[in-house]
Order: sequence, then C-alpha cells, then structure tokens
Amino acid sequence: MNSGMVVACLGQVLAREAEMEAAHPETKGALGGALYSERMGRLARAACAARPGDILELVVLSGTTSVRLAAVARALGRRLACVDNWRPGTEYRLEEVEAAFLNSIHQWTDVVDVWKMDAHTDDARRLLRTRDWAFAMSDDGHRFEDHQHELESILPRCRAIVVVDDYYYAPEVPDAVADALKRHPDWIPLRDERLREVWLVRKAATDATA
Ligand SMILES: C[S@@+](CC[C@H](N)C(=O)[O-])C[C@H]1O[C@@H](n2cnc3c(N)ncnc32)[C@H](O)[C@@H]1O
Repeated sequence: MNSGMVVACLGQVLAREAEMEAAHPETKGALGGALYSERMGRLARAACAARPGDILELVVLSGTTSVRLAAVARALGRRLACVDNWRPGTEYRLEEVEAAFLNSIHQWTDVVDVWKMDAHTDDARRLLRTRDWAFAMSDDGHRFEDHQHELESILPRCRAIVVVDDYYYAPEVPDAVADALKRHPDWIPLRDERLREVWLVRKAATDATA
C-alpha cells in the first residue's frame, strides 16, 4: 500500500474512532478520551502492521494504556518502551502512581523496557533516538516546550504514527505540533475534534519500500 493510501485509510479509521468516542456516555467528562487507551492499542497495531519498529509511550502515568500497548508488542514481536519520571511532589501522587504502573505491567516485563527519566533532557533525546519506532505517543504536560522537545526526539526515528495528546484542550499543544511540522514536512496531521489527540502520520515511511 503506498503512503497516500495509508493516509486515506487512516483518515477513515479516524472518522470511525471519533464516532465511537462521541457515542460513549463518558466522553464529555473525559474530553474525548473515554476510549483513549483502547484506541491507542488499535492504532499501535495498525502502525506496526504498516512499518517495522518498536512502540514508545511517553509518558505512562499508572499504565492503563501501557498494558494495551504491551499486548500489541508481544503479539507482533516488538518491544514497548515506557518513559516517565514519576517525580514526587506534584498533583498526581506519583509515588502511588508508579507503584500502580509497576503492578500493571508485571505480566508484560518480557516485552517492556521501563526508562525512568526526565523526558526533556539531552540524555532522554539521545536514548529515544537509538531506536526505530513504528508507533509513539507524546503526552507530557500542556506546555509548548515539553511537546516541542518530545517531538524533536521522536519524529526523526518514528516510521509510521505519532499520537500527540491534549490537542484540543491545551492551546500550546497545537502550536508545538504546527512548529514541529514546519521542520518535518514528511508528516501529515489527522485530527477530529471529537477526539482529544492528533495523529501524525509519516508520508514516505509508510510505503512498504521506504
Ligand atoms: C498524564 S501526564 C500529564 C500530562 C497530561 N498530558 C495531562 O493531561 O496533564 C502525567 C505523567 O507525566 C509524567 N511526567 C511529567 N513530566 C515529566 C518529565 N519531564 N519526564 C518524564 N515524565 C514526566 C508524570 O510522572 C506523570 O506520570
């Protein structure tokens, strides 16, 4: 399938996912994210079917999405890298969240790498650029600089799909995405305002021959 067809197919998938999300009774309170974790599992599977590479989740909180991504990784012979620093003293009660995460992924450790680190350092960028990713998620905070740093770490090594969360309710996120797309014109944004996130799809690298 050439990249134009992959983008067109994913456009149809996006519309279907948005309809399902909008029909869910908890969608309004969850800001377009009631089905987020299961949607990420389906999308990771589609990305891995299109291209080689591992799966990256940046950041993971308590691991609700991680277990779905780990199941995809194991089924398709890939690995899942989970990045988070669970820094204490923030509003999320992160000590407890980290323990919940470790408990969630307990049965998936054969396919999961846990990288406990600040995602926005030079070290993190170097590490993130050591692998090819088929599917990656960028979800750390609502600030322009955070998403800009994450996208610069991920886009050069991701081959199929990057999901950026919080697109429709954090005004700096669309700015960071627009800024990244100027520097990476081989990526196409797919979005629907019934969902909380934007999907970035790589044009050339989605071709089987690319
Ligand atoms: C759910 S995210 C918060 C961002 C989210 N998009 C939101 O709606 O607020 C929270 C997670 O981000 C992680 N996190 C925040 N800043 C980080 C950083 N610089 N490096 C790694 N993880 C971070 C926290 O440890 C926590 O697990």
